Amino acid sequence: MTQARLSAAIVLAAGAGTRMRSATPKVLHRVAGRTLLDHVLAAAAPLGASHSVVVVGHGREAVAASVEGRPGLRTVVQDRQAGTGHAVRVALGVLEGLRPADLVAVLPGDTPLLTSATLAALLRLHADSRAAASLLTALVDDPTGYGRIVRAQATVARPRAQTDAPASEVQATAGQDWDRAAAAGSVRAVVEQRDADPATAAIREINAGVYVFTVGALRSALGRLTTDNAQGEEYLTDVIGLLVTDGETVSAHVAPDAAETAGVNDRVQLAAAGAALRVRLARAAMLAGTTIVDPATTWIDADVTFEPDSTVLPNTHLRGATHLATGSVVGPDTTLTDTTVEAEAFVERSTVTQSWIGPGAGVGPYAHLRPGTRLGANGRIGAYVETKAAEIGAGTKVPHLAYVGDATIGERSNIGCSTVFANYDGVHKHRTVIGSDVKIGSDTVLIAPVVVGDGAYTGAGAIIKQDLPPGALGITEGRQRTIEGWVERSRPGTAAALAARRAQETSATKEAPAASEPLTMN
Ligand code: UD1
Ligand code: CA
Repeated sequence: MTQARLSAAIVLAAGAGTRMRSATPKVLHRVAGRTLLDHVLAAAAPLGASHSVVVVGHGREAVAASVEGRPGLRTVVQDRQAGTGHAVRVALGVLEGLRPADLVAVLPGDTPLLTSATLAALLRLHADSRAAASLLTALVDDPTGYGRIVRAQATVARPRAQTDAPASEVQATAGQDWDRAAAAGSVRAVVEQRDADPATAAIREINAGVYVFTVGALRSALGRLTTDNAQGEEYLTDVIGLLVTDGETVSAHVAPDAAETAGVNDRVQLAAAGAALRVRLARAAMLAGTTIVDPATTWIDADVTFEPDSTVLPNTHLRGATHLATGSVVGPDTTLTDTTVEAEAFVERSTVTQSWIGPGAGVGPYAHLRPGTRLGANGRIGAYVETKAAEIGAGTKVPHLAYVGDATIGERSNIGCSTVFANYDGVHKHRTVIGSDVKIGSDTVLIAPVVVGDGAYTGAGAIIKQDLPPGALGITEGRQRTIEGWVERSRPGTAAALAARRAQETSATKEAPAASEPLTMN
């Protein structure tokens, strides 16, 4: 087996994508957390090309911006969409230093299901067969819209009566068995739907639009393309026929799973591709040792990573570069974005973005962790807590009903129910710093910037504006005023007044020490 290496990958992404009916260029629509274009680039990445060129046209600024700064990657503008062959010519124009024996891949920008394994198989086939061109094909039930693969008459068994018919006609009579036989004959040409006669149109082996070319042969054939076809375009597919006529070897790899080659042209296909990716990503995670209780309601982005023995409960979205460590349990009803959940930690019914959940820590139910939250080992964030840019130390608990924004909290501290970190003075945000082993009383308002020293306490309802030294108690409550009998006087006849009256009568009866003493009623 030859160890082949690609020199460059060319991704065609200049088309309009009209059927998406979108202001966003087609290749920038997303499935499983990546743009369609990024899926294709990621599939090609393991093939070792040191240079990639993305051909842009429609929506060029947005497409170029989406890949800006990637090492080894550049975009080239195709001003006019004069065809796939023209697009490849434009791309080759900016790939300097390619030698005739070098290999380049050409890929469409809208096939997010393509796998690296299939591309590697195509590249291997190309090298092993010393081909000038190799293309990926698929056997499909409905070939409408695709280029058809016309093969030489196969040497394997087929109906004898048809032996003398032209290849295309023979194939037109095909069923599944014939397709398999057809895939054994050598490729003669690719014929586009619009240029196909009915017999050719009936062929169900299609061109996936994915190729490996040897540079010298590609250059030679591209120079001879014409626009003499139904669309008046330079078809890259005509390169195949030209090379066959030249006597060059053209190889074809039939995709083991035709679904992999499916392109996205409208939003129905976008959703279908997303669904297929979901199935694939959940399956990969499960086979690698993650328990996914309900794959059908688990959404996993392509960049999510798992350690074995992590668990995902139903209706959970794992987005971006989220990571689940061993023993972690996430869900149900949880959305994590770009978040790490360390070993043995859990997140239940919560929304967590760009945060880090330390080992053994717990979040939820019903918590909202905004970017920059770090919850230390064995820490706890409970129900109806919102955090943002909050560094929360190991063993510290924010168990319920609090807002913790722009805060640094030490270890083993407790933030009482209904505490608010008032971080915004209307113009600027300020930080609150709280030490270790601190007890913040219920309903404290901490007005930043403020510092609470180690071991300090605050009283319930305190409004803390001034720094508290270590070990101090901060209280700000006014003295309580109790106005006896106010309800009966001011709200006579209400349920509250009647209840107060009953309570007074009951306690008066109980407390009456002797029958001789008169009851005081007022
Ligand atoms: C193409 C193939 C067809 C194949 C199908 C697979 C040709 C002539 N036909 O047809 O055999 O079955 O893909 O999906 O190649 N593009 C440019 N510049 C252009 C034209 C196209 O960058 O001038 C890009 C498009 O954005 C797209 C890709 O090339 O990403 C394919 O072009 P498209 O017009 O969709 O070709 P198809 O008609 O689908
Ligand atoms: Ca297409």
